[in-house]
Amino acid sequence: MTFFIPEEKVLEIQNAADIIDIVSESVLLKRAGKNHVGLCPFHSEKTPSFTVNPEKQIFYCFGCTAGGNVFSFLMKHEGISFPEAARALARRYGIELPTGNISAAQKRVMSEREQILVANKHAVDCFSHALLSDSAGRKGLKYLSERGITGNTLERFGIGYAPEGWSNLMHHLARKGVPKKLLEKSGLVIENKQKNVFYDRFRNRIMFPIFNTGDQVIGFGGRVLDDSLPKYLNSPETPVYNKSRSLYGLNVTKQKCREKGLAFIVEGYMDLLALWQNGIENVVATLGTSLTSEHVRVLKGYAEKVILVYDSDDAGLKAAARSISIFDSGHLDSMILVLPEGYDPDSYVFEFGAEAFMKNAEKAIGPVDFLMESAIKKYGLSVEGKVRIVSAMKEHLAEIQDSVARSLYIKKMAEKLGIDDSAIMEKVRRAMNTKRSGSNAKSLLRREPGASDKRHKAWNGSATPTESYQMEKKIIAMMLQFPQVLSEIRRQEILSFFENGGLKKIGISILEHKGDSNRMVSDLIAIIDIPQERQLVASLAIEEGRWDIEGCLKLINKQFMASIKRKPSDLWMKIKEAEAQNDQEQLELLMQRLKDRKKIQNKLKFAGGKAL
Ligand code: GTP
Ligand code: MN
Repeated sequence: MTFFIPEEKVLEIQNAADIIDIVSESVLLKRAGKNHVGLCPFHSEKTPSFTVNPEKQIFYCFGCTAGGNVFSFLMKHEGISFPEAARALARRYGIELPTGNISAAQKRVMSEREQILVANKHAVDCFSHALLSDSAGRKGLKYLSERGITGNTLERFGIGYAPEGWSNLMHHLARKGVPKKLLEKSGLVIENKQKNVFYDRFRNRIMFPIFNTGDQVIGFGGRVLDDSLPKYLNSPETPVYNKSRSLYGLNVTKQKCREKGLAFIVEGYMDLLALWQNGIENVVATLGTSLTSEHVRVLKGYAEKVILVYDSDDAGLKAAARSISIFDSGHLDSMILVLPEGYDPDSYVFEFGAEAFMKNAEKAIGPVDFLMESAIKKYGLSVEGKVRIVSAMKEHLAEIQDSVARSLYIKKMAEKLGIDDSAIMEKVRRAMNTKRSGSNAKSLLRREPGASDKRHKAWNGSATPTESYQMEKKIIAMMLQFPQVLSEIRRQEILSFFENGGLKKIGISILEHKGDSNRMVSDLIAIIDIPQERQLVASLAIEEGRWDIEGCLKLINKQFMASIKRKPSDLWMKIKEAEAQNDQEQLELLMQRLKDRKKIQNKLKFAGGKAL
């Protein structure tokens, strides 16, 4: 786990870091007893099952079983490696890390992402210098000021300028020591393979850096200063830039989104800047892509409600249709706002001001209502028109997962159209069935090839794996949550009877743990390599049982040890089997287990069975 960062540094980082702080940056957490809960950032859900325990410094999701400590959270959330997560935390908490023991080869492999982030940072500096302090940037400044953008906005969003020329940035990056191979990977430089030459991707454009919520530059958008095409050029997908997840401006606006519980979603860079500059600071922009469910997952960490702002009915309709399923599964209220014809957020707010914009926003309506209004406008309320409206709406209504919401919409629509709701209900049901039979066929196909259930049993080697497994799991949970019992576990050598190797290993690590017992779970997670085991530890530790010493002793002696005593023969059967197959390794393992068992049974005999 800790190839590059010394163990004691990992512990230092862990002691300094607070998991509530870190998780709160991207998940809205609410207090619930000892824990904090929120909507899981790793899967779509409507009721919070994502749980963070500040005392133990761990998280666990009861919905998707993701779990771990502050490192695992960052790794999973940002898609980064352990050393990267550790370095990010070290930076944040002002802990210095040695770098001397990293070999050049390791450095290359481990930090491609980090090196791209460094290159991007150099690029921001280069573009910003060109805009603000270089005569070449005058054109850019003139353009931006004509569009009403102030110096403060330029600074806050790191806006810059890529002057004309094929290699300005390339030379700058070379001077900063960015390796040549990385130039292309970062998307800043393009290779012409035929001619074997490299050149700057962005030339003669206003440059908008795209930041992640941790204020790192992950990509760029560049706008021309005239009518040439393409109007905007964006970074390609790179190891650090994924456009279906990135939201422009969120690094600056996240605090305001939280405060208001609401985020406006606009389409363009300039739209976002215009709203922000006019005092509407709770806004994000999607970048030339339609909103995805990943965007929604990110956004729900910052707001409970969003208003999607569009500049035409057509765009609004498309977004409304898509957003029914995207938002439905992501638990975020969404509304659609279409601005008066001919205006986008940028031109609207500069012409009419923020107050007028907000007044307009009050007219925003939910996507289903939006689609219905549009259908009525389009088809009219003649008999013919009503038939068409129902036919247009049935697919949309079928998308709504929540049956209560669905039937309410159907009722509303029936009233509006003056027809019986059972007729609509019937059509919607049919649309749902068609959809469902389609997806059923798919899932059957998916399930077919995996005979994994059988394999799992064979591997477990026992006819009833669940009973002993459940018991062993319970004991580990007890050890994690009630350290007072550890001495008894040690004394009776309980772990030597464990059949499940993974649980046994976890148990041994618990017994070996030294230091603050509050930090034990988080420490354990840091040293466990297998993700499933990390999750298991988090899950067993976070569900608080009410333990007392009597209950624990009862579990150990009455239940666990008694069950061991009850089944002496299965070991012999396995030994015979291993002998038959001449499996020496297995045989040795089983003999060891037999010895362990004999030892403990003798002990029990000496105790006169009193403990039982
Ligand atoms: P301005 O003309 O600068 O006000 O831009 P706009 O935001 O009004 O432009 P538009 O509504 O045409 O585009 C909205 C967003 O789509 C932009 O901010 C870009 O992110 C993206 N976009 C627009 N044109 C292009 C293009 O030619 N190529 C790519 N890749 N993206 C574009
Ligand atoms: Mn515009």
